[in-house]
This record gives sequence, C-alpha cells and structure tokens, in this order.
Amino acid sequence: MKEVSADSQIKLFSGPEISLTAIQASGTRIRTKEYGELIDFESGCWANVLGHSRKEIVQTISENAGLLFHTHHYFSTEHPGTLVTELVKAAGLRGSYKGNFISSGSEAVSLAVSLAEYITKREKKLSLSISYHGTSSELKIPRNSTQWIDLDVSNCFSCQKSSSCSECGNYSSIDFSSIAAFVFEPGNSGGIVLCPPKKLISFLVENTKASGGFVILNEVTTGFGRTGRWFGFQHYDVFNSESHLPDLIALGKGLGNGYPISGVLIKSNLARVIEGSNFRYVQSHLDDPLGCIVARKVVEVISNEELIEIGNKMGQYLRQSLNEIREETKKIIEVRGRGLMNVIALDQSHHSLEVFKKLLERGFFTGYSELHNLIRLYPPLTIKTEEIDRLCRSLKEILIN
Ligand SMILES: Cc1ncc(COP(=O)(O)O)c(C=O)c1O
Repeated sequence: MKEVSADSQIKLFSGPEISLTAIQASGTRIRTKEYGELIDFESGCWANVLGHSRKEIVQTISENAGLLFHTHHYFSTEHPGTLVTELVKAAGLRGSYKGNFISSGSEAVSLAVSLAEYITKREKKLSLSISYHGTSSELKIPRNSTQWIDLDVSNCFSCQKSSSCSECGNYSSIDFSSIAAFVFEPGNSGGIVLCPPKKLISFLVENTKASGGFVILNEVTTGFGRTGRWFGFQHYDVFNSESHLPDLIALGKGLGNGYPISGVLIKSNLARVIEGSNFRYVQSHLDDPLGCIVARKVVEVISNEELIEIGNKMGQYLRQSLNEIREETKKIIEVRGRGLMNVIALDQSHHSLEVFKKLLERGFFTGYSELHNLIRLYPPLTIKTEEIDRLCRSLKEILIN
C-alpha cells in the first residue's frame, strides 16, 4: 500500500491528536493501519446505516455508474420521482410529497429554508439553540439573531417528568406571524442526543402552523432508522394530525449510506406553488441519477430486511447493556438515546478522550465529546448483539480500572 501523505491536505477540524489511517471498510468493520480492525460505532460520519461497502450498494454503483452518472439539470430521469414515491411509501409518510436531491445535509436544510422563505414571504426562522443544521454561514451556530430565533430550551428537558411544567408559557411572546418556518431537528443536537419534549414541540408546531408558518424537519441524522423509526419526527404525536403534517423534510447521511446524496421532500400542494413561480435553485448535482439510484437501493434494503425494527431492538439491547454497566461501575451518569443514536455521559473520574483512546486500542471506534464528557454510539442498523457485548465488556473493563 502507498504511504499516506497528509502534508498537502488542509486540516479543517480538530480531532484527537492521533493518527488513524483507514485502509478498507466493510459491514460494521473498518481496517486501520494503526489499530487493525475496528468496529465502527460511528457508522462512517453517521451515514452508513447499512454498514460499509454494503454489497447491494456496491453492486448498484458498479452496474449503473457506466450507464447514467450525472447529467445537466435540463435532462430528466425517472429516478428522483421514483425515489420520492418509494421512500414515502416505505416510511409510511402521510400526505403527498414531491422532492429533489442534492449532495449534502447542509444544502438540504438550506434549500428547505429558502423554499419556506419564498412561499411565506417571511424571513425569520425559529429553532432550538441546541439544534445543528449545517455548515453554511446562514445555518451554523451561533445563527444570525436578526434572522433566527434560537430558543434556549435547557429548562424544558424535565418537562416529561412534571405535568405542572409551565415553561412553554415563556415562549408565548414569540411573534409567530413573522416566522417562515420552525426548523426542528428531532433529537440529535450535534451528537449529544437531546430529544426535545413532546409538549414543547406540540406548542411550537401548533403555533407556527396556526400563524401560517411552515414546519421543516431536519432529518439529516435522525432519518433512515437512526432513532428506531424511519424518521425522528415519528416519535412526536403532534405530527399525526392531518393539519400538522411536516411541510418540508430535509434528508441526508443515511439516504445514500455514505454516497453523497441529500434531499428535500415538500408537500405536493407547496411544490405546485413553487413550480408555478419564479423561484430558482440550480446547482451542479441537482437530482443526479446515480445518487438517486443508490438511495432507492438503500430504501429497498432497509424495507426488505426490516432494518428499522431490527435497529430499534438493537438500540434497546445496547441501552440495557450500558445501564447494567452503569449500575455495576457507578462511573456513568446517564445513558441517553433513541434507537441506535446513543450517548453515555461519564462521571468526572473518567475523561471521554481517554476512554475513546482506550476503546480504540481494544478495537472500537466511537464518538466522544470532551465538552460534555460523553462517548457516542451510532452504529449501523446491522450491528449484532455479539458486537455490542464485546464493546460493553471492554467499556466495563476501562471504567473499572
Ligand atoms: C442534524 C444535522 N443537520 C445537518 C447536518 C449537515 O449535514 P452535512 O454534514 O452532510 O452537510 C448534520 C451533519 O452532521 C446534522 O447532524
């Protein structure tokens, strides 16, 4: 193998000061130069819901890349439309949706916001300050306060525990009539896994809708089974009502299982408004056929193999195993998560970066946050109980010593 040369590559992020060279990845495993084979509890960058180099996806790419890869946006193919139809059916979405596909999650949220602004003729967006919506300058935290109302909802997380909580009342001063969209990320919050309470979300959705604003779901990370359902918003009852269906849904990551495709679903009645207007959005990778073909395969494999249900059960198994370690070691403050989107909040006796490194040495790649002192576990939906058992044995060993 050729020696890796990182000299000419710009480093745009801060990470652990260790060398980690990927050689090959398949299923839940990633082979590295420094640590040998690792079980990938981050699913690539939270995208490989089916695992790495899934055979159906590799086959789909190799069969189709030579046929129809990328076209000028003047050309049409059957794939974007068919992908929307197949996804809406598989995920059990109520209502009628149309959609477009681009490349990254940030672009998808940005396009959804532009569509909402255009139709409502309003500029303000409502969101939660903990929500991550992407890297573009208008989305990244801290967001421009003249255009965004970012609610600090830190007091809301005890809501489920107390029926007398009156915190939502503090938000009644919001001028909902100026809001183009409530941009809701149902549960990830930049990898710290905070799931906003149902009561708060019902309040914000109902008021936004009643005042003529839209609800945009940011499902970039929470989509495609990550939270134990097809989409994270499906944990929130408010969306069961016909009048509160999501207006726009931003997709990314799991949609391509690592292939760079993202998308926006928009209710068909709103799509008709856009189609009859002078709204314009063009970029190089609009509805690229190969990406759409890959995503259709992802939807098919998830459905055929019932991976949403399986992933949900694996998530329950993981949390149960982690809670047992919590009981035994008393070194874990909290195990938090939904489906296969989980974090372990460590107590002060263990530093997350050290635990991350020790897990690496034992054959596991996880996420971590030094700020929140937590270890993050977002494995593929195809993770096996034996792999979870192996991780838990090592984690326990690390925490006890
Ligand atoms: C909730 C959420 N929204 C948007 C994004 C941005 O997606 P991308 O990195 O593909 O641009 C991310 C990425 O982590 C995310 O987690």
